[in-house]
Amino acid sequence: MKKLPFFLHGGDYNPDQWRHVPGIVDEDFRLFPLAGVNSLSVGIFSWTALEPEEGRYEFGWLDDIMDRAAARGMAIVLATPSGAKPNWMAAKYPEVRRVTGDGVHEPLRELQCRRHNHCLTSPVYRENVRRIDEALAARYGSHPALALWHVSNEFNGECHCELCLAAFRDWLRAKYGSLEALNHAWWTGFWSHAYTDWSQIEAIDYSVDGLVLDWKRFVSEQTSSFIRNEAEALRRHAPDIPVTTNLMGFFDGLDYACIAREIDIVSWDNYPQYHERPGETETLPAFIGLTHDYMRSLKPGRPFLMMESSPGPVNWYHHNRLLRPGQHRLKSLQAVAHGSDSVQYFQIRKGRGGSEKFHGAVIDHVGHENTRMFREVAQVGRDMEALAPVFGSVVRPKVAIVFDRESDWALKASQGPLEALKGGYADAVAAHYLPFWKRGIAVDVVDGDAPLDGYSLVIAPMLFMLRDGFAGRVEKFVAAGGTFVASYLTGVVGPTGLCFTGGFPGPLRKLLGVWAEETDYLYDDERNAIECASGNPLGLSGSFETSLVCEVVHAEGGAEVAATYGRDFYAGDPALTVRRSGKGEAWYLATRADAAFLDSFHGALARRLALPRALAADLPEGVSAHVREGAGGERFVFVLNFASARREVRLDLGSTYRDLLSGGSTLEGSLALPPFGVAVLQKNPA
Ligand code: GAL
Repeated sequence: MKKLPFFLHGGDYNPDQWRHVPGIVDEDFRLFPLAGVNSLSVGIFSWTALEPEEGRYEFGWLDDIMDRAAARGMAIVLATPSGAKPNWMAAKYPEVRRVTGDGVHEPLRELQCRRHNHCLTSPVYRENVRRIDEALAARYGSHPALALWHVSNEFNGECHCELCLAAFRDWLRAKYGSLEALNHAWWTGFWSHAYTDWSQIEAIDYSVDGLVLDWKRFVSEQTSSFIRNEAEALRRHAPDIPVTTNLMGFFDGLDYACIAREIDIVSWDNYPQYHERPGETETLPAFIGLTHDYMRSLKPGRPFLMMESSPGPVNWYHHNRLLRPGQHRLKSLQAVAHGSDSVQYFQIRKGRGGSEKFHGAVIDHVGHENTRMFREVAQVGRDMEALAPVFGSVVRPKVAIVFDRESDWALKASQGPLEALKGGYADAVAAHYLPFWKRGIAVDVVDGDAPLDGYSLVIAPMLFMLRDGFAGRVEKFVAAGGTFVASYLTGVVGPTGLCFTGGFPGPLRKLLGVWAEETDYLYDDERNAIECASGNPLGLSGSFETSLVCEVVHAEGGAEVAATYGRDFYAGDPALTVRRSGKGEAWYLATRADAAFLDSFHGALARRLALPRALAADLPEGVSAHVREGAGGERFVFVLNFASARREVRLDLGSTYRDLLSGGSTLEGSLALPPFGVAVLQKNPA
């Protein structure tokens, strides 16, 4: 597999929309080096420019871009155009248009409009996609500028046409073998929903949660097979060129673990609202950090790519605020700090029309380089050159937080649990992530299928659905010395949404040493308290607020009660427990504790487990620190200041640091960061 040549700095470039403007491409190529742009993502929505009518191709404009890029040593990220289907195709083959469905009303076929709305199953669409992909791959597969294939764009959504429905029924038949097994797995005796013929199965029936879950799995797998159809066409002509597709962070419509299997490099599109609330120095940056880590962990131990981000405001938030000076650089290098080998933008040149004509771009409508955002982009371009030694280095966490998309779906499909919890899985995970982010401790984000060896600490917040084999893997992990933390609403259902019998948290009950007998959901403004028990093994003290959910639990099997509830009829009952097993231990937190508690708790665990930190000293408020490790053992320490005030950061005593962004000067003792400032330091350079 061909490696990427360097840190990519560039992004979506649509010269096909400007073909009627003479000289524009010359001007763009004059501006690229000024902005430090070394890569272009081309052709993402260019189907009609490439194939204006069926079977008639126009590659001239793309040949020109590819050749100009090659002549300047630039990298091309070449997209397949399947994200938006041409009008001629939608008119000639109506089956490529998506059919909408809510599981209640007769499905309806969409008009040709917008984008990202083709049928995932249609053989006609797949064949047309394959044809254009083969044509692109045959023509450019060995072009010297080609660095990466970008399959389609931001896959999302589902189609409810007869073809998709038939494919779903086949998928179910292959999965369950018989209707008897399916009826059993879905508990279809409920409301007389037993199926007596495969043709009775609809895409969605919200009263059958097992069906809802399987439909979502099917949509993920159908999307994967759509991507495979494209990737095969590309790999046939260009087996050495890696393939990616741009993901969307915590988007909940697809199981990204399933999608990641089809691609060589993970990439995602990052649009944080740092400009929205200037006082937001921790929660939001930590959430974005978590999202980078989640994306990176889809292919652990390797760099990922930030495929899109906006130089300037986007056009789709309620308030499209300006990025404050320095924030563009900060959010760009935040991605690199978490393991990205690129800073890519949507978009390079701002279009004059269409719904994104007011979206941020490197080259604004004014058309020249004398704009604030162009200068900020150029600064990032210089940074990326200075950071060349960091290219290809990796992040090696000792902590894993479990975020499991299937569990998210299982919780959302269940009626009863509090809506605020159902809609807040990523936030619940983020609350456990924040204490590590504040301490400069690296974290992977894994799902219930991931191997756990190699981690010291595994945290599973609100892991409602347990995959087969998960509990066994956690038991082995703990027996071998690992520390495991689970929280309320963990181990409630199995993979088809059926509740575990024999006491929650189901297969984890024995290891954790708790039985969660009842679950109390609190009103929004209600609070309970968690009181730390004296002499608890982490030395926690005091009382903390809890909200939303309180499970009434019993400690059993030798579990120790480390904290209890402060109020209500379950006051004095266990709220935090720990049970030792083999060389490790397993903690259970029965309620949604506040940030202060999570900070004390995880802070104490981090100290006890001596988890590696980017810098030994405590970080000031709003500052995060991250390490990327080079193949030769180099340690690159990124220090990011999300505060709009100056921050002083203590460096490790006895170490020297080379400051890569400011000409390689040497630092010792401490580092001063201006508002929104960034430093990248190589520790103890040889
Ligand atoms: C992304 C998309 C781009 C562009 C961008 C605007 O989600 O992939 O094509 O629409 O948003 O922010």
